[in-house]
Amino acid sequence: MKRRLKLGIIGGGPGSWIGHVHRIAARFDDKYEIIAGVFSRNLKINQKFAQKIGIKKDRCYKDFKELCLKEKRRKDSIDVISIMTPPGSHQEIAELFIKNNFHVISDKPFAGNFIQAKKLHKTIKKNKKIVYGLTHNYSAYPMVRYAKKLIKDGKIGNIEYINVEYIQDWSNGRDITLKNAKSIFKWKLEKKFAGISTVLNEIGSHAFHLAYYLTGLEGRKLFADIKQYSKKIKFDTNAQVLVDYENKGKGLFWISTTARGEVYGLKIRVFGNKGSIEWIQNNPNHLIYGNSKGATKKLERGFNESSYSKKFSRIKYGHPEGYLSAFANLYKEISQEINNKNPSRKKFFPNEDDGLITAKYIDACVKSSKRKKWVNLND
Ligand SMILES: NC(=O)c1ccc[n+]([C@@H]2O[C@H](COP(=O)([O-])OP(=O)(O)OC[C@H]3O[C@@H](n4cnc5c(N)ncnc54)[C@H](O)[C@@H]3O)[C@@H](O)[C@H]2O)c1
Repeated sequence: MKRRLKLGIIGGGPGSWIGHVHRIAARFDDKYEIIAGVFSRNLKINQKFAQKIGIKKDRCYKDFKELCLKEKRRKDSIDVISIMTPPGSHQEIAELFIKNNFHVISDKPFAGNFIQAKKLHKTIKKNKKIVYGLTHNYSAYPMVRYAKKLIKDGKIGNIEYINVEYIQDWSNGRDITLKNAKSIFKWKLEKKFAGISTVLNEIGSHAFHLAYYLTGLEGRKLFADIKQYSKKIKFDTNAQVLVDYENKGKGLFWISTTARGEVYGLKIRVFGNKGSIEWIQNNPNHLIYGNSKGATKKLERGFNESSYSKKFSRIKYGHPEGYLSAFANLYKEISQEINNKNPSRKKFFPNEDDGLITAKYIDACVKSSKRKKWVNLND
């Protein structure tokens, strides 16, 4: 058995649910051991949390710079760093570790804005020794992987329409006021931390990525209408986006954090000239496959003709498998890539190229909404 990779973590401290998800995903297949970290910008909280999850005192650092510098000097240093801080810091942290030859796993969005994204992309491309993985976790569900294969194999024909909704309700039953907004949304209200657009960086990035991951199509131009929460509470909360694709296909995206009563409503539909697919993250073990000349089928993960999806599953069909194991697929695939002396060109997990493309969409959306005009994606 290959040795476990030594993992360091930046962010994901108390109160961050995605921190917990990363730690579980890293351990899921026994490919990593978490040995170092900075879990909060508050030193006391950081140290207390590190102790709670079993990090040795001398491997809990005061900030990411100290972690990088001191780990680099150790013989038993970390191999990989995992970043789960707010978006505005992703580029700075990732670049430091890449320049020091550590592999990087980062949560989305790739960077806070397109300028940062371009810089980070360049830095990653320059260092051929490192592997960079971006945790767009929805791309790792078994039935999403199967949908990608169906599309690639021409089962739905030439793609004509893509429709993605990622709509949520961040109020969670509360009335949001000027008084309580800061305590509820925290850094998501500030561009310095949240980046160019909160709704687009937080969930729009997933929506654009999933469409790209499944179809491989890139947009040529887009039109976006972005809404702020209110005149007084200023942050982007809703976006409607039209995309013209390179193959003349059309995309329609709705991304919202103020869709009352909706919980993690991520749904993608892709229509080709021979058929269609539909996947809904709240029901991830099923894929609807529509055939223009026959019956529409509900395909089950790992069962009968969906057996391809078994590769990305751990339990038998009919038993619910979900979010954590899909997230763990990314950790597993990244570990395989790191351990592979001749990195494969058949990567499943999202990387810096996926990151740059989603950052480009988000940048164009913000420009389009401001100008109230279509914006070319390749200017
Ligand atoms: N992949 C997903 O489905 C998913 C889901 C939720 C969040 N996220 C992403 O995860 C990131 C974090 O979001 P969150 O909701 O967990 O935020 P959060 O505010 O709940 O948690 C962030 C944590 O990072 C710590 N932190 C912040 N800056 C730090 C620094 N410089 N050094 C060390 N620790 C630092 C904070 O103390 C906190 O514990 C964001 O990029 C977000 O988009 C991804």
